Amino acid sequence: MGLSRKEPFLLLLLGVSALLLGGSAGSSSHSLRYFTTIVSDPGEKVPQFFSVGYVDDQEYAHYNASTKRVLPTAPWIRKVDKDDPQYWERNSQVVWNTEQSFRVGLGTLSGYYNQSGGSHTLQKMYGCELRGDGSKGGYRQFAYDGRDYISFDKETLTYTAADVPAQNTKRKWEADLATIQYRKAYLEEICIEWLQRYLDYGKESLLRTEVPEVKVTRKEDYDDMETLICRVGGFYPKEIDITWTKDGEVWTQDVFHGLVSPNSDGTYYTWRSVTVDPKERERYKCHVEHDGLPNPVDVAWEEPDSNLGIIIGCVVGVLLLIGVMAGIYFKKRQDGYKAAAASDQGSNSSGTGTAVPI
Ligand SMILES: *[C@@H]1O[C@H](CO)[C@@H](O)[C@H](O)[C@H]1NC(C)=O
Ligand SMILES: *[C@@H]1O[C@H](CO)[C@@H](O)[C@H](O)[C@H]1NC(C)=O
Repeated sequence: MGLSRKEPFLLLLLGVSALLLGGSAGSSSHSLRYFTTIVSDPGEKVPQFFSVGYVDDQEYAHYNASTKRVLPTAPWIRKVDKDDPQYWERNSQVVWNTEQSFRVGLGTLSGYYNQSGGSHTLQKMYGCELRGDGSKGGYRQFAYDGRDYISFDKETLTYTAADVPAQNTKRKWEADLATIQYRKAYLEEICIEWLQRYLDYGKESLLRTEVPEVKVTRKEDYDDMETLICRVGGFYPKEIDITWTKDGEVWTQDVFHGLVSPNSDGTYYTWRSVTVDPKERERYKCHVEHDGLPNPVDVAWEEPDSNLGIIIGCVVGVLLLIGVMAGIYFKKRQDGYKAAAASDQGSNSSGTGTAVPI
């Protein structure tokens, strides 16, 4: 069984891209991406089908396989209703077509791989990217059972088959030049136009910036060395540039980093550590660049004592203030009750103002 272009699998794949057309942007990168998956499970009668669209890291729409409808999942996508009343209907139809082609495709693929039953997964990812420097990117690729199957090379208008069975698909898809040319035009133009439109609809959340908070902590190691950890949190968008510097020069030795992970409030968190000789601790700085920062920041580890110093300073300041106010109060009282010598004596020992010189 093959993927001839008369067969639904191919047709659907064609249709898919039509579906998701997709948004102007700040200096960071933005992407429009679609993920489609079908999973066959011998325990279930029908394979499960999923399709989801993202702008950057925000899901904005998905397909409900029970109702056969594409539904909005980000508030801003609703703005499309006014500009394009057929949007949901059209995309529901396109994804429904994809669903059918994926169902057929699962059968085709188990034929190519000589499989009889079992659980199998077919996935498609495609989308486009608008980078901060104005350059663009686009990709379209398929995976079968979690491994690369085939991917589109829009520069050469060819498909790259990851294994022998995938060459069947490659031959069939490459035979249809018109469709291949459409795929390229979709990734390079149509997808980018939709991305720009979506970024405009969702600019309040997608193009916002939230300033990273940077803090350096330290941890003693076993071998007389210590680890400085630069913790960076609360930022958006996700792109961030964090380096350790020593005496102002980028330092990469014994540097480890964490993934950039999402917080529940839609911001991101990450960390970057460096192992240092405690004697040289002050020479290291955590250098952070982010769209939310007008200028890069450099943060060194700070003696907790200096914080304690600030706290003590504040407490002393507050006490002084209270003392001054109490002093003024007592002064006024003295002025008001010049004659009452007896009660003035008592005032010295009442309240908090005892140490305050007037
Ligand atoms: C799909 O829609 C049905 C009916 O409205 C609902 O019960 C179900 O939870 C939805 N499924 C998903 C994955 O959203
Ligand atoms: C499937 O079986 C055929 C015939 O036995 C064989 O030629 C082919 O290499 C097999 N394909 C795979 C992917 O194992």
